[in-house]
Amino acid sequence: MSGLAMMPDRPLLDVHDISAHYGRVHALKPTNLHVKEGELVTILGPNGAGKSTLLRALTKLTASKGQVLFKGQDISSLPTHALARLGIIMVQEGRGLFGQMSVMENLILGGYTLTGSARDAEQRLDTVFGLFPRLRERTSQVASSLSGGEQQMLAIGRALMANPKLLMLDEPSLGLAPRVAAEIIETLGELNRRGLGILLVEQKAPLALKLAKRVYVISLGEIVAELSAHEIQSHHDLARYYLH
Ligand SMILES: Nc1ncnc2c1ncn2[C@@H]1O[C@H](COP(=O)(O)OP(=O)(O)O)[C@@H](O)[C@H]1O
Ligand SMILES: [Mg+2]
Repeated sequence: MSGLAMMPDRPLLDVHDISAHYGRVHALKPTNLHVKEGELVTILGPNGAGKSTLLRALTKLTASKGQVLFKGQDISSLPTHALARLGIIMVQEGRGLFGQMSVMENLILGGYTLTGSARDAEQRLDTVFGLFPRLRERTSQVASSLSGGEQQMLAIGRALMANPKLLMLDEPSLGLAPRVAAEIIETLGELNRRGLGILLVEQKAPLALKLAKRVYVISLGEIVAELSAHEIQSHHDLARYYLH
């Protein structure tokens, strides 16, 4: 997350013709996208558009075709855990926490299981607790007893324990009160300002628009528009693409 090695215009993630099927359902048509170093990009689309499939295809949780480059390296054939070791980490929809374990156990174990390394764990804990003071106050609380917002904070905190270079998030605002969702999104903004590349999937346009410099709009398994920060200023433009 250090900004030192950041080269703003270099592609962090470069995706060519990624596609995925569930049996005969072509859930993701050949799709191209990229995320530059230090960029926060949002994928916006309605329910069932293929957003989760795209993130799952990128992280190999779903079988996919196509070419994926990470910092110029072809990672198309690497499995999920190898991608995690490179720093490609996803916070899944539904959060996937260890419900019966404490906040601290989730953080420590989560970071370890994602990357197979506990290196710098204390330093990373400091970072996580700095971003989410509420987690520090609840280190021994069982994860399943946290509020929805706190669970999402924990899921993001756990991902940060794996020292991501590219953080993907699948609808982190899902099921959260607007104020809590805004707080989560604000923290993602802070992480991005610190240099972290972020690929954020959202269904709610206002949240998606708040941070992103660039938005891909996805509908029926394909990207139907790419909007720059400038175009994003006009919600009307976006609505034209989005509300169909
Ligand atoms: N495991 C699965 N098996 C079959 N079809 C699926 C599966 N997961 C998702 N789909 C279908 O793929 C399409 C895209 O789903 P998804 O990627 O979950 O959309 P989103 O995340 O945008 O809501 C939908 O039509 C959905 O019903
Ligand atoms: Mg989804």
